[in-house]
Amino acid sequence: MAESVLRPAAEVLFRDELDALAAADTHPKPRGFRLSPRMIRTFILGSGEAKLPRPGGAGEIAVTQKFFGDDALVERAIVTLASPRALLLVGEPGTAKSMLSELLAAAATGTSLLTVQGSAATTEDQIKYTWNYALLLAKGPVREALVPSPLFAAMREGRIARFEELTRCPVEVQDSLVGILSDKVLRVPELEGEDGILFARAGFNLIATANARDRGVNEMSAALRRRFNFESVRPIRDPRVEMALVEREVQTQLAAAGASVPVPQDAVELVVTTFQELRAGRSREGVHLDRPEAPLSTAEAIATLHAAALHAHYYGTGRLGAEEVASHLAGAATLDAAEDTAKLERYVETVVRDRAARHGGPWGALLEAWRKIGRER
Ligand SMILES: Nc1ncnc2c1ncn2[C@@H]1O[C@H](COP(=O)(O)OP(=O)(O)OP(=O)(O)O)[C@@H](O)[C@H]1O
Ligand SMILES: [Mg+2]
Repeated sequence: MAESVLRPAAEVLFRDELDALAAADTHPKPRGFRLSPRMIRTFILGSGEAKLPRPGGAGEIAVTQKFFGDDALVERAIVTLASPRALLLVGEPGTAKSMLSELLAAAATGTSLLTVQGSAATTEDQIKYTWNYALLLAKGPVREALVPSPLFAAMREGRIARFEELTRCPVEVQDSLVGILSDKVLRVPELEGEDGILFARAGFNLIATANARDRGVNEMSAALRRRFNFESVRPIRDPRVEMALVEREVQTQLAAAGASVPVPQDAVELVVTTFQELRAGRSREGVHLDRPEAPLSTAEAIATLHAAALHAHYYGTGRLGAEEVASHLAGAATLDAAEDTAKLERYVETVVRDRAARHGGPWGALLEAWRKIGRER
C-alpha cells in the first residue's frame, strides 16, 4: 500500500528517523512534545556524519538533512513552537514553507495532518467545528454530533496544527484565531456544561504559512499579528547548496517514477544558475537583468529539471542534455506573464551568449539548443 501513495506524510516517510531520534533523546522536552528541540533540529538539519542506533537493534541510521540554507531560522522556529506564540512562515512561493511546517509538526507532536487549507472561501466553521446534520436533527446539539476541525483536534490532543496560506482567507475569518491563540480555549456555545468548552492540552500550537505574493501579512489584524512570531523564509543563496539539493531531489523523484535517467552535473548547473541569476536580477559577471514575474524558486528548479529528465526518458535518447533543459526552461520562466518570455530571451542572448563565446561547454550547448527551439517555434 505505502508504495502506491504518491506523497506519504512526513511522519510516515521518515518514521525510522523519528523513532531513532526519540529512542536516543535524553534532552529536555517542552510539555506535550514527542522530541526535544535538539532532536527536532537534528531531524530537520540532519545528523551530519553521526549515526543513531536503529530502535530494535538492527544497525544504525543517519538522519538526512531536509531543509537547507538557514539553520538559525529552524532553531528559532522550534523555540517559538515551545512558547505561547504561534509561528508564521512568510516568503516567496517555493521556498519550502509548507515543507518546513510539515516537518516541524511531524517531529514535535507526531502528526503533520491536522491541517487547515486556507483560501478565499475558508469559513469560520472550517477553522472551529461543524455539525453532522443527520445527528444534529435526530439528537439535537450533542457532543457526538459535533465534527471537529483539524484545529479542534489539535487542541484536544495537544498537537501542532497547521494553517496553510493563512493570508488567502478573508481577514474576518482569520480573526477567529485570535481567541484560540490567546486563551488556548475554544467555546462551543451550542453545547452545555463542560462539553461546551475545550481547553487546549499541552503540546498544542499552530504553524501558519503565508505566501508573500498573496494578500500581504500587513492586512492581518494587529490583534492576530501579535499572536505570531514571524519568520521570513528566503530562497537558498549559495548556488552549491542549491545545486546539491536540486540534484538529490530530482534523483529521488526519478527513482520514485521508475525512470533511470542519469542527471548530469552540467544540466543541474545550467538550471540552478539561470534561476539564481534571474531571481537576483544580476548575472555572475554583473550584468543587470530584468526579473521575471514567475517565482524562480528552488521548487521550480527541481520541477524543471525533473520534467526535462522525464522528457529524455520518454522521448529522447535517455540522456538529459541541453535540448531538454532549454525547452523546459522556457516553460518554467514563462509561467506567469507573457513579458517573461522576452526577459528569458534577453538573458539567453546576453549572458548565455557571452558565456558560450568565452567558455563554450554546457553554455554553448544551451545557446545552440535554445536557438534551435526558437527556429522550430
Ligand atoms: N531551503 C530549502 N531546503 C530544502 N528544500 C527546499 C528549500 N527550498 C525549496 N525546497 C524544495 O521546494 C519544495 C517546495 O516547497 P514548498 O511547497 O514547501 O514551498 P512553499 O514555500 O510552501 O511554496 P508555496 O508558497 O507555493 O506554497 C520542497 O519540497 C523542497 O523540495
Ligand atoms: Mg506552501
